[in-house]
Amino acid sequence: MKIIKVDTHKTLSQVCAFMFEEQINKKPNSKICFATGSSPVQTYIELIKKYNQGLLDFSQITTFNLDEYVGIPTTNKCSYHYFMDGNLFNHINVKRENINFPNGNGNVVEEAKKYEEIIKKHGGIDFTILGIGTNGHIAFNEPGSTISDRTREVQLTQSTIESNKIYFDKPSDMPLTAISMGIGTILESKKIVLIASGTSKANAIRDMVLGPVSPECPASFLQLHNDVTVIVDEEAGKYI
Ligand code: PGA
Repeated sequence: MKIIKVDTHKTLSQVCAFMFEEQINKKPNSKICFATGSSPVQTYIELIKKYNQGLLDFSQITTFNLDEYVGIPTTNKCSYHYFMDGNLFNHINVKRENINFPNGNGNVVEEAKKYEEIIKKHGGIDFTILGIGTNGHIAFNEPGSTISDRTREVQLTQSTIESNKIYFDKPSDMPLTAISMGIGTILESKKIVLIASGTSKANAIRDMVLGPVSPECPASFLQLHNDVTVIVDEEAGKYI
């Protein structure tokens, strides 16, 4: 793992956006997997700035997303579809037909299989951005997840529910399951960048980087990948 420690979340986001720029300029038709959550929001603002400055062209990229809640419409403002539109896709020139998501509605077992097939049909993912949960999850691969996991429906842990329910008008509206790429799916991405900021992530970052490779910290499986860059601010990186 390559570790980049920076002073602030803003610098982290600029470094991460620069890595996107390098990737897309090197391969304009890159297959990119995006993350949701608070971690990448500032990075996406930087990407929009670069697009407006003419430094980035998203017209040939194909996008995937790591996960989506099960059982809420894509128009719900807490859905990850809605998040990606509002925070990135509506502001850049990505083609609508090139946007892919796991579908958390309908027959989720079938939808999970279909999603894996779509990724394969595109020749796999070139570049994936990840956040990390305070419990060490990546996407919604909660502790107990294994390296052989593929896209599937997952039960969210209490700690994830506590972290995410604040986004819902009524906390009880938060779904208890999600459809998520598996650790196995994520590890097949050619390049992976994980970003984390703030003290609440420090233990998870320590376990991911220094701990054993173990389902107890799903992010630790990234130690097995040959092109992972971890960008942390001082607080998230204080134990490494
Ligand atoms: P956050 O979530 O970016 O909102 O902190 C990250 C995650 O849970 O994977």
